[in-house]
Amino acid sequence: EKGFKNVEVFTKEHVAVSLAHDVAQHSNKFIRERGAFTVVLSGGSLIKYLRKLVESPHAESIDWSKWHVFWVDERVVPKDHLESNYKLAYDGFLSKVPIPQVNIYGIDDALEADGAADVYETTLRRLVKSGVIATSASGFPKFDLMLLGIGPDGHVASLFPEHPIVKEDKKWVTFIKDSPKPPSDRITLTFPVINSSSNIAMVVTGAGKSNAVYSTLQGDENTEKLPVGLVSPEGDLKWYLDIGAASKLFKE
Ligand code: 6PG
Repeated sequence: EKGFKNVEVFTKEHVAVSLAHDVAQHSNKFIRERGAFTVVLSGGSLIKYLRKLVESPHAESIDWSKWHVFWVDERVVPKDHLESNYKLAYDGFLSKVPIPQVNIYGIDDALEADGAADVYETTLRRLVKSGVIATSASGFPKFDLMLLGIGPDGHVASLFPEHPIVKEDKKWVTFIKDSPKPPSDRITLTFPVINSSSNIAMVVTGAGKSNAVYSTLQGDENTEKLPVGLVSPEGDLKWYLDIGAASKLFKE
């Protein structure tokens, strides 16, 4: 059985307002229920849409000491590199809130893609074992909240159209050395992990995404080719669209 699905359309400003409100609610709920909140970040413009979380009233009301932060995917570059999702998140969000540094699980940037993916999976296994990360019935890590974006080509995480790792069904973390979008070397969570999430927030803005959004939500001849169509969590899925991303949905 799948969770609740919901699509909402906002102005760009209200994507940030609504997302902050929902993240704060998830944070309160999971910290109350399980004493921790596991949140998985993406790259791209997502971080910008977290900006209201570092402001009043959320900044003061959230118990940041209980947050554990992960990445959906990461480029295999040093953590201070301009292409690093860690740096993007650190500069735009993490440096502004008191999350303990030990609870921020960036990749080991001294390793190549394969080694970094293995080490990341080992870290996740340790945290599942100690109960920091919950577990799904099928044994995959069950993150409290996963924040996803999509590319104009319909990719999510570093799972690109027609790439074989889209079909990975055993590993929790895998790597890619031929990403169609640079940089070439990346690590990424796999679909079984993505779809084990308690909550997924799909944050999609800009008219450049309107075709991918239409194919996914409405369905057309491209639907089957888009990795985003494989996002189908056991938990709840909420889409945060701006008017541009939703524009093709309104044309009917
Ligand atoms: C990458 C990008 C990419 C991005 C989406 C959405 O991995 O190269 O970070 O995955 O997250 O394309 O990007 P925007 O939210 O910036 O449109």
